Amino acid sequence: MRQTLIAIDGPAGSGKSTVARAVAQRLGLEYLDTGAMYRAVTFAAIRRGIDPADAEPVGRLAAEVDIEVADAVTVDGVDATIEIRSPEVTRAVSAVAANPAVRRELVARQRLWAQARHGGVVEGRDIGTVVFPHADVKVYLTADDGERATRRSKEMLDMHYDQVAADIARRDHIDSTRSASPMAVASDAVHIDSTGRDIDAVVEDVLSLVAG
Ligand code: DC
Repeated sequence: MRQTLIAIDGPAGSGKSTVARAVAQRLGLEYLDTGAMYRAVTFAAIRRGIDPADAEPVGRLAAEVDIEVADAVTVDGVDATIEIRSPEVTRAVSAVAANPAVRRELVARQRLWAQARHGGVVEGRDIGTVVFPHADVKVYLTADDGERATRRSKEMLDMHYDQVAADIARRDHIDSTRSASPMAVASDAVHIDSTGRDIDAVVEDVLSLVAG
């Protein structure tokens, strides 16, 4: 039996994770944070002393590393839930996400994840464009730059607002200009701007797309 597949894309701090998790819960679907997978590969590289920008060894690492992304994130059996959000991983993750070999491997894993569950709510940057171009519902979630930086700085307690804002701007630029699957809006995605809006209202917007 095929269930619904919902793709939620958008930049850092747009509210994607919160919305995707809530939508999954309301619909009784499972939720996958694909950004956590790119972060897990970055964490594994750093842990093994591999430069995250060194494309060839990082590509090989992505093919063999064991990653589990659920409420906790486990990398080769080690709980890395906290570490994958560290400034060190956050700084290095864009280079890993720009690596075509890493993307090929993680996209294949994301498709297997959804196949095994006959659907789900999948969140990332290229979900509606590349990973699941035939998703039932595609949402592109945004918020203005200031609000995205404010939200992220509440999560990144060890970084100041200015640092977070600069980091988001840098990552937006790398993520949207890389040659391998740049962040883009799918032509059939519904664009939702969460600026100044209550997250519950955004969740309702997404649910209305599923029902409709
Ligand atoms: O959503 P996030 O900040 O945890 O994502 C971490 C990085 O991974 C971010 O720089 C963009 C990248 N990413 C990606 O390229 N493709 C995805 N499907 C998900 C995340």
